[in-house]
Amino acid sequence: MRFVALAFSLTLCPKPLMRPTAIETEIGQIPLQNCLYNASGARCTTGEELDSLARAPTGAVLAKSATIAYRKGNPKPRYRDIPFGSINAMGLPNLGIDFYLDYAAAFSAEKPLFLSVAGLTTAENHTLLKRIQKAAGVGAVELNLSCPNIPGKPQTGYDVAQTEHLLQGVFAFYDKPLGVKLPPYFDRVHFDQMAAVLNRFPLAFVTCINSMGNGLHIDVERETASLKPKGGFGGIGGLYAKPTALANVNRFYKLLDGIPIVGCGGVQTGTDVFEHILCGASAVQVGTSLMKEGLACFTRLGEELQSLMREKGYVRVADFKGKLKSL
Ligand code: SIN
Repeated sequence: MRFVALAFSLTLCPKPLMRPTAIETEIGQIPLQNCLYNASGARCTTGEELDSLARAPTGAVLAKSATIAYRKGNPKPRYRDIPFGSINAMGLPNLGIDFYLDYAAAFSAEKPLFLSVAGLTTAENHTLLKRIQKAAGVGAVELNLSCPNIPGKPQTGYDVAQTEHLLQGVFAFYDKPLGVKLPPYFDRVHFDQMAAVLNRFPLAFVTCINSMGNGLHIDVERETASLKPKGGFGGIGGLYAKPTALANVNRFYKLLDGIPIVGCGGVQTGTDVFEHILCGASAVQVGTSLMKEGLACFTRLGEELQSLMREKGYVRVADFKGKLKSL
């Protein structure tokens, strides 16, 4: 009887049967077979890059933040690997929303495709989301409130009133899963103020954190900044960002009324992934390690995480999610 049922589902069901994994998770209503996936910006702009991510051992594919039109981005060099992480001032280079909508319509991998949106104005964000609302194949949207690299454009996430205004406009029409990507916060009052705003909206998730904006890395030999745009100022990722990322994940995990957190920042090892989840992350994005190591980082991180879980006697992510103890 079991054989008949299996043969029936293999014949009629177009998707292979999913076996539960130790690192499966869910972001609210969205199940993921693997708690790891790429951060928006890291190797996820072109069709080839997205196809590679679709084949990688990750729980989702997240595309580069899109604007309405194609953007070339800032002049190069605009990304550098640096000793404990990375610095970037990319300036939102992307292929434009039409490309990502076409890609989503044809997407057939056994995991969700998330789009990221970074309109340069409130009106552009509304237009982008109205287009996505009508489109097929989009698992969720990450609304980027935190790109630090557009000259003359402040990060929306540092303006509580503007964030509230933007979200009010968005949720007046948008009814599909939508989360926001926040910048890092450093003052407890700012956590409280932003959480109070976010709690007013039916957000599917909150991603903490984008890169730490406006760092400066120096090329000592040439006595210049390492990057060309913005006088060399750029967003800092990697290990430099990890303690700040963990603090943001943990604070928002406590302050948000059940909105799932996606952790991002400083993930170089399975232990780093474990720490994000312990602080409250439901899933964890990887940016700088993906840039430095390529797709192989996902296999390694997944194995390291599972090995640590086995050592500690945890069988699933939910066993330790948000269970950071006090001293
Ligand atoms: C960029 O394209 O400048 C990076 C995107 C971001 O930090 O949100």
